[in-house]
Amino acid sequence: MRVLALLNQKGGCGKTTTALQLASLFAEAGRRTVLVDLDPQGHATLGLGAAAPERDRSLARVLSRSGLHEDAIPITEVLVPVADRLFLAPSGAELAELEPELARTHGGDERLAEHLVALSGRADRVVIDGPPSLGLLTLNALMASHEIVVPVDPSLFSMQGLVRMVEIVELTEKRRNHRAEVRILVNAYDGRSNFARATLEEIRRAYPGKALSTVVRASVRVREAAARGVSVTRLAPGAAVAEDYRALAKEIDEAEAAIVEAARPAAGQGLVVTRDGVYISRHDVPPEDLLLAGDFNGWVPDAGVLLERHEDGSWTKFVPLDTGRYEYKLIVGGRWIADPLNPKQVVNAVGTKNSVLEI
Ligand SMILES: Nc1ncnc2c1ncn2[C@@H]1O[C@H](COP(=O)(O)OP(=O)(O)O)[C@@H](O)[C@H]1O
Ligand SMILES: [Mg+2]
Repeated sequence: MRVLALLNQKGGCGKTTTALQLASLFAEAGRRTVLVDLDPQGHATLGLGAAAPERDRSLARVLSRSGLHEDAIPITEVLVPVADRLFLAPSGAELAELEPELARTHGGDERLAEHLVALSGRADRVVIDGPPSLGLLTLNALMASHEIVVPVDPSLFSMQGLVRMVEIVELTEKRRNHRAEVRILVNAYDGRSNFARATLEEIRRAYPGKALSTVVRASVRVREAAARGVSVTRLAPGAAVAEDYRALAKEIDEAEAAIVEAARPAAGQGLVVTRDGVYISRHDVPPEDLLLAGDFNGWVPDAGVLLERHEDGSWTKFVPLDTGRYEYKLIVGGRWIADPLNPKQVVNAVGTKNSVLEI
């Protein structure tokens, strides 16, 4: 499951339009997609023709409790089906009331991430439509996402919003150890305007590698489609702007596929669970750089772990274990992380994730 958020604290730059359009295209391409409306204005909810949700059936009700809380309701309980393979987590004004609570709570910026775990295995794509502010809702979107698309309307002075957003993503990486890819989308582009052309050039110069090659042109068709509650690729599939959106979805898909591929270790490199315990074999990193810690060894890295070095330079670590359920983490190059190859995770007492294995 990959999570993408449309973020820019400026209103009117195209977050909601792009979120709706990408979610529709992903679903039409066969992906199980969830659109998360994280804007108290509920524009995405209204845009999909869903009524303003009842309090008990809106995303705010889900986020007001941490996923660890006993009466937390899972996000799956508020999902509304809106098209084939497309579901909506709806929102309304009550989402704004939640921000102070999130700001007061330790780990209040990780609530959405905690709840999205319940969708893994059930959804392929999550698209988050962000609010026009830089508060806790935006931080929740950031902490839950693998990638952030920042739409910029070159006819507005939205460069400042862009600079700030990129800074915040970088800060989150340093302070919270959460990395998200930033991609900048020039939206509502009018090639006849000198100002728009200059802005596009400026963005590509200032953010090489971050600016998407696809640009979405300005078109009255976009507003027409919004007024009728359909995506522009449905309303006017032959329009130039529909072509832009299809190119955008394709570019995002390809960039994502490349990242997922690069992050995937070679076959047989993950933790292997047997009846007597678990083992891991590697040849690409020294054994000192990949340690195991869990409730089975008192969270002391590699305590009780048996190491065997092989002649070809590879090695195997074995942890003998009785039948049971265990929580663990990997320590890779000094960093404590959840096992990237194990989808089974739980949120621990300090709000980060532990991997889970069962024997
Ligand atoms: N490519 C485009 N061409 C023309 N109008 C657009 C385009 N993208 C968005 N709009 C219009 O701009 C307005 C603001 O877009 P919206 O997606 O609601 O922005 P945000 O969610 O960032 O506030 C809407 O009326 C929308 O229809
Ligand atoms: Mg919006």
